[in-house]
Amino acid sequence: MSIAYNKNKAAVNDPSLQDNVVLTPPLRKMIIAVDGPAASGKGTLARKIAERLNYAYLDTGALYRAVALATLEMAGEPSRVESVMPAVDIIKRNLTTALLESPVLRKPEVSEAASKVAAIPEVRAALLDFQRDFAKNPPGDVGGAVLDGRDIGTVVCPNADVKFFVTANPEARAERRFKELLWTHPLITLERVLSDITQRDKRDSGREFAPTYPAGDAYLLDTTKLSANDVLDTAIWTLHKKFLAETGANI
Ligand code: CDP
Repeated sequence: MSIAYNKNKAAVNDPSLQDNVVLTPPLRKMIIAVDGPAASGKGTLARKIAERLNYAYLDTGALYRAVALATLEMAGEPSRVESVMPAVDIIKRNLTTALLESPVLRKPEVSEAASKVAAIPEVRAALLDFQRDFAKNPPGDVGGAVLDGRDIGTVVCPNADVKFFVTANPEARAERRFKELLWTHPLITLERVLSDITQRDKRDSGREFAPTYPAGDAYLLDTTKLSANDVLDTAIWTLHKKFLAETGANI
């Protein structure tokens, strides 16, 4: 399978790149890890990379969100392993794309509960095989998989072919998430969103198991001042260079 690489902004700045370069990635399926803190733009980037390359995409945060929602629906306490494990079982048996894409998972109370259930090592362990299996055997006739989350490059797929760690300052992240949430939560305030994100960052990066941090071999992308398309251009250009380096192709 070949990937047509179209000229874009990042490419324009690189004199060595010609128009319509065609990349030939290795025959094995590639794994791309995209990690980063809340509302950093990692989900948007991961989804766009998957679309551009025709790879399968897994939003691993949605797994934790689904477990959190099921826990809340059973009136369980998201920090207690006894409350959460029954929810994990239910989610593992009923996992569908529709569930993972459900807008209900984006509710602020589900976000908060997700970061609580995600701090429980038994929960993380129970979701690990599914994520690794998706990465190695992505569904469909695709060239590989893109997974986004907090620990993809460090724990789930430490041997991922390319790793990105996406960051942005907390104010920029809060503003983005605020704009997303306004559609469904017209009364939400920017202050509340910033405070939720800051608390979640603290919990996610301070936890003992699989905390959020960049893998040593991750490419860091600060998206504070970049549009989603600029971030995609930069990532695609990085992938382009990586594939070229692996295949030894000349441009
Ligand atoms: O979209 P956003 O960045 O706000 O969050 P998410 O990626 O949907 O993740 C929701 C929560 O799940 C996070 O706050 C983390 O606590 C947890 N999570 C995790 O621990 N590990 C992952 N690989 C993905 C998410």
